[in-house]
Amino acid sequence: MPNALITGWGRCVPPAVLSNADLETVTDTSDDWITSRTGIKERRISHVEVSDLSTVAASHALAAAGLGPTDLDLIIVATCSPDRAIPSAATMVQAKLGATRAGAMDLNAACSGFIFALSTADQMIRSGSMRRVLVIGAEKLSYWLDFSNRATSVLFGDGAGAVVLEAAEEEGGLLAFELGADGTAGDLLCVPASGTEGNPLRRELPTILMEGAEVFRRAVTAMGDSASRVVARAGLSLDDIDLFIPHQANVRIIDATARRLDLDPAKVFVNIASYGNTSAATIPIALSEALEAGRITPGANLVLAAFGGGFTWAAAVYRWGRRVTPVGTSPAALPPSSATALELLAPNIAVHGKGV
Ligand code: UT7
Repeated sequence: MPNALITGWGRCVPPAVLSNADLETVTDTSDDWITSRTGIKERRISHVEVSDLSTVAASHALAAAGLGPTDLDLIIVATCSPDRAIPSAATMVQAKLGATRAGAMDLNAACSGFIFALSTADQMIRSGSMRRVLVIGAEKLSYWLDFSNRATSVLFGDGAGAVVLEAAEEEGGLLAFELGADGTAGDLLCVPASGTEGNPLRRELPTILMEGAEVFRRAVTAMGDSASRVVARAGLSLDDIDLFIPHQANVRIIDATARRLDLDPAKVFVNIASYGNTSAATIPIALSEALEAGRITPGANLVLAAFGGGFTWAAAVYRWGRRVTPVGTSPAALPPSSATALELLAPNIAVHGKGV
């Protein structure tokens, strides 16, 4: 049975920055509150769609793996904010890359989506059915921001991260994973009327609703407990873990989860200050930044953990292979835009105005 190793990685964050000071002008909040309650200083707002962010992240990941688009057998885009319901974001990426041999599908497990997609790809490869799978986490949650709701509109941002998973004889890959869900809690974090439900004659702009404190409590328990279960299932102890890459929803959730696991803070990767919560994209963006920063060494044991709408949660232990540097680079970039974040958000601001 082959192992499935990450051989390429990349990310794409759009250029427009929405700062906490910008948010003070459109909703009743303050830099002090956002920084102290969430750890977020700024987030990115996209002038393009999820398939565009995904394609650029994927081009970097393919170059890092030293592969071309026609080497791919499958593309999975983990997202809950695709360009369209049909066609899927993944098929759009397939066309934009020219990945003519690849199947393509979207996977929606909200903020946990990347780990769900990574483990799906891992199993496809380990079963021998596929050899090279592109896994992307990408979101444009800014589309759903409601500035009359200060409890959610300050949290989210846009971006994409991608990895290439390849069949390999080399040691490494996913040592254990766990995927969980509690559909009875769906209303605690949701975007009503974002699908087919509701009376089309009374359609309102769908926006993100969340019972923040309850989501917070459940996120810490689920991420902490599933992370410790997968570490045990991998036959490791928490001392064997070199880097914890948690979903980036709130720095207080990350700190509380790390305390629950009794993990040294130096082993926890945190970049939420720069991007906010990009849902399925937080972990692959963090992974590519961790590699660039030299935080992942050959043979390193990583733990990934996430929690999100559904509720869904997931955790995985991944042992890195030998190569921690890219084979090549790609010039891929988004079309240029000089629009500011507030200009891009003008439709949201016009619909909801400055709330309290
Ligand atoms: O990706 C997975 C899903 N998402 C998450 O994991 C997020 C989970 N939840 C959270 O991160 C936190 O619950 C929030 C950041 C959403 C809220 O933080 P909190 O410490 O739980 O605050 P709270 O909701 O208990 O509200 C405390 C106070 C309230 O005021 P009063 O009632 O005490 O006067 C809120 O109205 O903070 C107020 N508040 C704000 N004030 C300024 C809530 N949002 C804001 C805001 N600016 N943006």
